[in-house]
Amino acid sequence: MSVTAIIGAQWGDEGKGKLVDSLSENVDIVARYQGGANAGHTVHIKNKKFVLHLIPGGILRPHVVSVIGNGVVFDPEAFFEEVKILKEQNIFVSERLFISDRAHVIFPYHKLIDRLSDKHLKNNKIGTTGRGIGPAYVDKFNRSGIRLIDLYNPDHLKSRLRKNINQANKLLIEVYHEKPLVFETEWETAQKNAERLHPFIKDTTSFLIDAWKDGKSILLEGAQGSLLDVDFGSYPYVTSSNPSIGGAVTGTGLPPQAITHTIGVIKAYMTRVGEGPFPTEESLTLGENLRSVGNEYGATTGRPRRCGWLDIVAAKHVIRLNGISSLAVTKLDVLSDFDEIRVCTAYKNSSSGSDNFPADSQLLEKCRPVWETFPGWKSAINMCTRFEQLPDEARKYISFIENTCDTPVTYISVGVERNQLIRRI
Ligand code: GDP
Ligand code: IMO
Ligand code: MG
Repeated sequence: MSVTAIIGAQWGDEGKGKLVDSLSENVDIVARYQGGANAGHTVHIKNKKFVLHLIPGGILRPHVVSVIGNGVVFDPEAFFEEVKILKEQNIFVSERLFISDRAHVIFPYHKLIDRLSDKHLKNNKIGTTGRGIGPAYVDKFNRSGIRLIDLYNPDHLKSRLRKNINQANKLLIEVYHEKPLVFETEWETAQKNAERLHPFIKDTTSFLIDAWKDGKSILLEGAQGSLLDVDFGSYPYVTSSNPSIGGAVTGTGLPPQAITHTIGVIKAYMTRVGEGPFPTEESLTLGENLRSVGNEYGATTGRPRRCGWLDIVAAKHVIRLNGISSLAVTKLDVLSDFDEIRVCTAYKNSSSGSDNFPADSQLLEKCRPVWETFPGWKSAINMCTRFEQLPDEARKYISFIENTCDTPVTYISVGVERNQLIRRI
């Protein structure tokens, strides 16, 4: 009936996992379309915590079929670990999870090279998650990658893997002065993985197109966020995929006209993990307060997240480029403790215009926010289930976001639990 894309509208960790879980109550399929195990999507259900890296949030709903799309870079090790942890939590994946035969495989050399190359960048490092994402997408676009389908063609796999390992070993020895990888070990692992993964592999593109044509309801789960998009984010401090709407099309095979709704997920404030410009960052006490009240620590790496206020210039950039039809504002409850709430409405010192999110990260680094300040509401809101129950100040804050962004806020999340979500549709 509908295909809804759920897109991170900041620098990741906006609460996409929580929203996907809440909205998947009434859908048939949830499909991830890009990124890999760099994602960390947290879901709380009745005091139980789940952290998903590769597996779509739909897995937590027994009636939902989950799909890992062709645009994802797939790490078998991370996948088996996630399946194991889910099993310990009584969530079983067989026959309700499919992985695209076109998805590219992350091998140990991708992860090694990711970690070593970022370390060697020293002061210019990106601060990647070390999950092999960049190097795997490099191989994909260099046409040297290995896809899941290739695991079932032993001769082809053997020659490609040998070539890739020789190439990786050159880098490991000559540039990073590390020990080389042994082909035979990697080959054996690849064969074992092929066998274990076999039941999950599918032509997910045909599956999704057929499901769309049959009127099934589908959620497309973005990882990361549009400000980390390799085309539209704060390049080079980005990830190596398109978390924005284009990625939902190329990463699933669904045609653009299939997508009926695009929901942008924004936190009521802002965070960032890793390096790169962040105009509204509060690095002193205020930032620390946001981090501790919002429990802002990476779900994948455990790194403390950098914290700051909502940036409307960045939000408008993301809304425009994705054609976002509605917003979900998460973690509004975290602001309950603050006397004042600040929002950046324009940039000072920006040679590209006060209302423009510059293409050049060095320019973005120099942008200083023009602030608008709102009074806090200083009362708990995590029991609110309807918009009308929110304090005046909180409603005004949401209305301000809607008006300045010219986009309706249809969901407001006021706590970690599934049901702590105000729906306005
Ligand atoms: P994702 O990567 O976009 O799925 O977000 P993460 O899971 O990495 O980070 C969001 C964090 O905020 C998680 O710990 C969630 O449990 C938590 N969270 C999500 N929504 C809310 C909310 O409305 N209020 C509070 N207090 N926490 C939330
Ligand atoms: P979710 O899906 C926040 C960041 C890293 C680094 C940059 C590049 O949970 O929102 P990569 O390993 O992708 O090459 O790292 O992107 N990053 C994320 N930040 N949330 C994420 O995912 C992220 N995935 C990658 O910190 O700055
Ligand atoms: Mg996350």
